[in-house]
Amino acid sequence: MAMLRRNSIFFVLAAFLQLFHLATSQSFIGVNYGQVADNLPPPSATANLLQSTSIEKVRLYGADPAIIKALANTGIGIVIGASNGDAASLASDPNAAQQWINSNVLPFYPASNIILITVGNEVITSTDDTLMSQLLPAMQNLQNALNSVSLGGKIKVSTVHSMGILSQSDPPSSGMFNPAYTSTLNGLLGFLNATGSPFAINPYPFFAYQSDPRPETLAFCLFQPNSGRVDSGTNIQYMNMFDAQLDAIRSALNSLGFNGVEILVAETGWPYNGDGNEFGPSVDNAKAFNGNLIAHLRSMVGTPLMPNQSVDTYIFALYDEDLKPGPASERFFGLYKPDLTMTYDVGLSKSSQNPATPTTPTTPVTPAPKAGGWCVPSSGVSDAQLQTNIDYACGQGIDCSQIQPGGACYEPNTVASHAAYAMNLLYQTAGRNPWNCDFSHTATLTSNNPSYNGCTYPGGST
Ligand SMILES: *[C@@H]1O[C@H](CO)[C@@H](O)[C@H](O)[C@H]1NC(C)=O
Ligand SMILES: *[C@@H]1O[C@H](CO)[C@@H](O)[C@H](O)[C@H]1NC(C)=O
Repeated sequence: MAMLRRNSIFFVLAAFLQLFHLATSQSFIGVNYGQVADNLPPPSATANLLQSTSIEKVRLYGADPAIIKALANTGIGIVIGASNGDAASLASDPNAAQQWINSNVLPFYPASNIILITVGNEVITSTDDTLMSQLLPAMQNLQNALNSVSLGGKIKVSTVHSMGILSQSDPPSSGMFNPAYTSTLNGLLGFLNATGSPFAINPYPFFAYQSDPRPETLAFCLFQPNSGRVDSGTNIQYMNMFDAQLDAIRSALNSLGFNGVEILVAETGWPYNGDGNEFGPSVDNAKAFNGNLIAHLRSMVGTPLMPNQSVDTYIFALYDEDLKPGPASERFFGLYKPDLTMTYDVGLSKSSQNPATPTTPTTPVTPAPKAGGWCVPSSGVSDAQLQTNIDYACGQGIDCSQIQPGGACYEPNTVASHAAYAMNLLYQTAGRNPWNCDFSHTATLTSNNPSYNGCTYPGGST
């Protein structure tokens, strides 16, 4: 009996800790820290900035010791990179690989939480056959070097690909790697599968929009309400480009038998400025993409082929890189300015809209009533559309913590219930105008208060 009681107390405690963990951990949100700039703040300032946000991982393109050191004892996961230029010596000489680990990892680890080494960037689509042939041997030598200092498995080794690695991506279920790369990829995937390392990819809905600049494509790319796209192979309705791109990769991996290799988004993002002839760069679009992406990841809904999980996603980028060549948009991807202010607010700051901060519990704000009623989903709307409404609403800066694990409105844990809460909250916050309760004709006003138990829907009486 006493035993049983202790056990049940233990289980209650464990369940509580689990909830707490789910509610607070957002380890899937990372950011790219590129340094092709002459105006970046010092690494210590960057470390402080990152700690003030819910960003838990940072990807470097190289292995700048000053940055790696500045991130010591922050717990922030660090991805470091060996460059394309390093590949030749890493591939041909195991000692060079050992030396690389000795110089770039051992002096800093574990105080600096290095979690992944990427070798080369978009090598397979580079059309450089020599480089391509060096890729896997270089990765293997680094893995052996890590193993020899007992860091195998603790620090993974991978490489990063562009979406150009696919010859087919639409519909997502038909996703297929370019046959020209299959033999290289088979070896590479065998390595990733055997070492439990992720397949790293750079999906950019921004570039998909560039090649198809229609308004409905923009809404699809920005996670905004849209009519969706049905995958003719599976009848799954996709509501955003990001999920479609990830599932195209998932399908391509599965078709080669690598269902167990997980996907990592090494880069995705949206520029807030660009040249006049580029489609899509703007502050509004960048804020919509990144804000809705973050809300989508926080919702843990996953993609149709990878449900109930959020793929580790490194947003491009932490700062603008003013020395980047190419179209102007390349220099305007930054979430933060060199003076550490936000370019635009996507709810990453712990002190503002971060639902992950347990020390600042937020009570739902009840705006001054203007008209009666609550905004809820119309009947017959698909879960996919409702999920888009959740992502969209929660990307607008409202506080969606109540529908996250541990929140008063988390149960019942259904898309319909979470959508009702988020859509209503956005309606109440946005001004309670009829057009604030539209969501592409998927919403309706009701005079029945949907609040239940401890879950309060703001709004109501006049
Ligand atoms: C992936 O790894 C697992 C476990 O190590 C193994 O059983 C499986 O055959 C591998 N898959 C492929 C396609 O190599
Ligand atoms: C995902 O979560 C939902 C709600 O908790 C559950 O009904 C469903 O079975 C889960 N799907 C998978 C594949 O785990």
